[in-house]
Amino acid sequence: MDRKPILVTKPALAPLEEFLPYLEEIWETRWLTNSGPFHQKLEAALAEYLNVKHVVLCNNGTSALLLALRVLGLQGEVITTPYSFIATGHAIIWAGLEPVFVDIGADSCNLNPEHLEAAITERTAAIMPVHCYGNPCETEAIGRIAKKHGIPVVYDAAHAFGVVTESGSLLNEGDLSVVSFHATKVFNTFEGGAIICHDDAMRKKLEYLRNFGFEDETHIPEIGVNAKLNEFQSALGLLQLQHLEEWLTKRAELSRLYSEGLNDVVGLQCGAKPWAKKPNYAYFPIMINEEYPYSRDEVVDMLRAREVHVRRYFYPLITDFPLYRNARCVPASLPNARRSADSVICLPIYPDLLAEDVRRTCEYLRCWAVPK
Ligand SMILES: Cc1ncc(COP(=O)(O)O)c(C=O)c1O
Repeated sequence: MDRKPILVTKPALAPLEEFLPYLEEIWETRWLTNSGPFHQKLEAALAEYLNVKHVVLCNNGTSALLLALRVLGLQGEVITTPYSFIATGHAIIWAGLEPVFVDIGADSCNLNPEHLEAAITERTAAIMPVHCYGNPCETEAIGRIAKKHGIPVVYDAAHAFGVVTESGSLLNEGDLSVVSFHATKVFNTFEGGAIICHDDAMRKKLEYLRNFGFEDETHIPEIGVNAKLNEFQSALGLLQLQHLEEWLTKRAELSRLYSEGLNDVVGLQCGAKPWAKKPNYAYFPIMINEEYPYSRDEVVDMLRAREVHVRRYFYPLITDFPLYRNARCVPASLPNARRSADSVICLPIYPDLLAEDVRRTCEYLRCWAVPK
């Protein structure tokens, strides 16, 4: 049968006609970049929406991670997770630091705080956990250990835009958090990102680090980079923000349909615990375990053959890339991360995805399973 392909992701965009007045304004003012009016408005609007003190916009999440590490003036090792996108590891190395990889929990896909103390040495400069799939890390346990050892925590919150826990905005955890506004994220500005910080001095320093290090016209206290978000993308961000709740509602509904369709399938485990008080439904991961009659890779191929384009996430582990082979890992074999890398599939989820596409995907996964 002739079926339309189901893409793994499709960026959410506000209607083009709604963007045109913003463009006209940019063409009128000719203020294209360097902290223009849309940039300033977006920083304020995001701080309000996210319920955080400061939002420092950047041109992407990777440079935001890099600046977050640089602003702390660190030297030595940064503890992170191998179960993440490669940018997590790369940012640490670009900042002149060494990544150390700690295994994730059995269910959560996030750094397991039980291994943290064993990984900390006198060279540990910071901890950089990832809120994988937008699911909150064990922030309390991580914070307690970090405080005991006097080391800062920078959350890679690339997936966690808008997530709220019992304690409020997840982005208020740690010393700094970094979000990504990449095309595939819940909130996108084509490319983009931001650092969330909690004090004025840190904000000021981040602002000059993202602008070549210029504190003012004649002073450059540190080597900065060009990590500015332009007016075009900032204006788009302001518009996208107006549509966000509607997009989140659609994601929530699709997520509910997947859960209903797959919850009782033997050999499939849905989601990654624990869910937040207000999740952002950024991803719909499923774990294919030994009871399922096909391996994870076979399922990926079978779905792709039927034009359902799913993705293995995160595969390979960061530590499996040759560039990272010599990194220190705790425990050395990273058993949970390896299991997740070998068994997780992220199913398509985005506001434009149709309910019938979710049902079709669930139908395949159900009919290949062992009958109950
Ligand atoms: C966990 C994680 N960290 C960092 C990044 C990098 O963000 P960006 O693509 O905006 O540079 C991404 C993905 O895009 C990510 O998934």
